[in-house]
Amino acid sequence: MGEQVRFLLDESELPTHWYNIVADLPTPPPPPLHPGTREPVGPDDLAALFPPELIAQEVTGDRFVEIPEPVRDVYRQYRPSPLIRARRWERALGTPARIYYKYEGVSPAGSHKTNTSVPQVYYNSINGITKLTTETGAGQWGTALGYACALFGLECEVWQVGTSFDTKPQRRTLIEVFGAKVHRSPSRLTEFGKTLPEDHPGSLGIAISEAVEVAAQDDAIKYSLGSVLNHVLLHQTVIGEEALKQLALAGESGADLVIGCAGGGSNFAGLAFPFLREKLAGNQSPRILAVEPSSCPTLTRGEYRYDFGDAGGMTPLLKMYTLGHDFVPSPIHAGGLRYHAMAPLVSHVVNEGLIDAAALHQSECFEVAVDFARAEGIVAAPESSHALAQARREALAAKENGTEPVIVIGLSGHGLLELGAYDSYLAGHLEDDPLSDEALAAALANVPVV
Ligand SMILES: Cc1ncc(COP(=O)(O)O)c(C=O)c1O
Repeated sequence: MGEQVRFLLDESELPTHWYNIVADLPTPPPPPLHPGTREPVGPDDLAALFPPELIAQEVTGDRFVEIPEPVRDVYRQYRPSPLIRARRWERALGTPARIYYKYEGVSPAGSHKTNTSVPQVYYNSINGITKLTTETGAGQWGTALGYACALFGLECEVWQVGTSFDTKPQRRTLIEVFGAKVHRSPSRLTEFGKTLPEDHPGSLGIAISEAVEVAAQDDAIKYSLGSVLNHVLLHQTVIGEEALKQLALAGESGADLVIGCAGGGSNFAGLAFPFLREKLAGNQSPRILAVEPSSCPTLTRGEYRYDFGDAGGMTPLLKMYTLGHDFVPSPIHAGGLRYHAMAPLVSHVVNEGLIDAAALHQSECFEVAVDFARAEGIVAAPESSHALAQARREALAAKENGTEPVIVIGLSGHGLLELGAYDSYLAGHLEDDPLSDEALAAALANVPVV
C-alpha cells in the first residue's frame, strides 16, 4: 500500500461541542462597550440584532457549548472535513517538513463560513425570525448565509462590498441561486449608504453598517455577522477539534506550527484555538501564526484599542487591533481579508503573546497558490493562499535548517469562483499595494478615544 494522504473521520466522530477559549485564557478579554455610555454592554443592548442563544454564547465562560442536533444534521452534509498530507507539494518543495492542510473547501459554500451560518440561522429560526441581513466581501460569507437560510426557510439580504460586487459576478449568482438578494454596497437603500458616493469601492465596515441599519428597524429581521464576534469564532472550532484527532490518526504527537489566514479572525481561531488549549495545558507546543495581507495589516501594524466594528459607528466598541473603522483597504483579491480590525479574542491572544502574526504581499500568495495547485490539485481561495505562502516560507526554512516540523495549514476555502484573480496573476497584472505610514496614521486618527 502507498503512503496515506487523506486522514478522515467517520460521520459519527463529528464534534458534539464547540470549544470556548475564554475558559482557558490566563487573563479575561476586555468587554465590549456601549457606543453611547462607554459602559460594558449587557445582553439587552444586543437583543435588537441577535437571538438570545447567540447572545448567551457571546458572553459565556463555559469551556464547551453543545452543538444542537439540527445543526449537527446539516454539518453532516460536509463534515468532518478532510485533513490532507501535502505529500506531492512537500516533494515539489524538497522539504523535510510534514505538511498537512485542513480543507474547508468541501462545504456547500466552498469555505469554512457554513460552520457558523448554519447555527446562526438555526437559532434565529427557532426564535421566529423570518429574515436576516448581512455583509459580504468576496462573497463566501453571503453564499454561506444564503445556503443556511434556504435550509431553514428564512429570507436573506446581503450587502456586498462594491469592488467585490463589480469584479466577482459569479459569486453574486451563487448567492442568488441559494435564494438570497444581493446589493452593491454602498447602496441607495440605507441612510448610511446614501452618505457615500454610489461608485465608492466600499468596505466590509460600510457593508456591515448598511446591514445593521436595516435589521435594527424591524423586529422580525435580525443581523448576522460572518466573523469577528465570540460566537462566530466559537462555531468555527469544529475545524481545530477535528484536526487534532486527525493529526493523531496520522501518527503525529502534535503540531510544531499551526498557520491560518486572518481577515476577521474566524477561520484562524477555529483551527488555532483548540491547538492553543492543548498548548496552554502543556500537551503540545506549536507556534501559532495568523497571516494577513500587507495592504490590510491589522495585527502587524494596527493599534490594540477600542474601535467600532463598522464604518458608521453603530456597533458596540470592541477592544481589538484596528486600522481605524473608516479605513478602506486597497482592492486586493482576498476580499475576505479586507477588514479594518481583528476579532477581539484573536487580538487578545496576540496582545498576550500567545500567538504570532505575519503580513504578506498578494503576489507571493498567488505565486504559491499556483505552485500548490500544480502539486495538490486544489485551487485555494485568495484568502487561504496567505496561509499557504507562509507555510512555504516555513517549509523552505526547514530545508535550510535541517529540521522536520509538522506544519498544519488552515485551507479555509477553494478559489474556483476567483479565477478572475488567478487570471490577473497569470497575465502579470497583479499589483502589491502595501499600506503607507501616512495612510495608516490618517485612518487611526478617527479611532475614538476611550
Ligand atoms: C475562504 C476565506 N478564508 C478566510 C476568510 C477570512 O475571514 P475570517 O478571518 O473570518 O476567517 C474569508 C472571508 O471571507 C474567506 O472567504
